[in-house]
Amino acid sequence: MTGTATHVTVETVTALRGADRHDLCDAAEAAIRDGGGFGWLTPPLRNVMEAYWKGVLLVPERSLIVGRLDGVIAGSALIEAPPKSNEARAHTAHLTSHFVAPWARGHGVARALLVAVENAARQQGRHILELDVRETQEAALQIYRQYGYTEWGRHPFYAMVDGRPVAGLFFYKQLGDMIAPETAKAVAEATEGSDA
Ligand SMILES: CC(C)(COP(=O)(O)OP(=O)(O)OC[C@H]1O[C@@H](n2cnc3c(N)ncnc32)[C@H](O)[C@@H]1OP(=O)(O)O)[C@@H](O)C(=O)NCCC(=O)NCCS
Repeated sequence: MTGTATHVTVETVTALRGADRHDLCDAAEAAIRDGGGFGWLTPPLRNVMEAYWKGVLLVPERSLIVGRLDGVIAGSALIEAPPKSNEARAHTAHLTSHFVAPWARGHGVARALLVAVENAARQQGRHILELDVRETQEAALQIYRQYGYTEWGRHPFYAMVDGRPVAGLFFYKQLGDMIAPETAKAVAEATEGSDA
């Protein structure tokens, strides 16, 4: 954190209008130019970027959370739930597009976004949050490790940057009990009964 007084807020958005739409595109473009981290290697044309965010908001399985610094959108985080057909993985969600524009970094926006993502995923009934990230994204790795994400795998050909493979690291975090308390109690009682 710097000594400058700043105000960080986060919110789930279902529509992006006016300045917010432009500010999110500006923030994403600045982050991409700085080294990206969420897929893009070079900023796309503005209409493509706008269409990307519009598309994000149209997909029912996606929830977009934006972070603001002093009222201006400075970053985002996206929760992607599995399709309804994937019942076996309904307990999971995936975190993507977690970035903060360079001008807004170091003020806790990424941290606020991550907390909001975890809370929203819990409210959706997800018990596991998953994410993957290039192993060159050191600040991101630091925050995920700090917030208790477990690293479970490394993919040596995860991304191609400037014609070279860059490895990716895979993480998960358990957000709560994997089974409901009443189920856990029933299992415990049944186990006690079988021991008697
Ligand atoms: C990672 C990123 C989101 C952090 O944004 P931020 O708003 O500056 O982060 P915060 O101020 O909330 O800091 C939260 C934590 O992130 C980590 N962090 C942030 N900047 C860091 C840096 N330069 N070096 C190491 N760790 C850093 C620290 O753990 C920090 O906690 P601390 O302040 O207690 O040490 C930002 O650097 C970014 O957008 N990077 C590129 C995109 C990316 O890699 N996204 C992840 C994959 S999708």
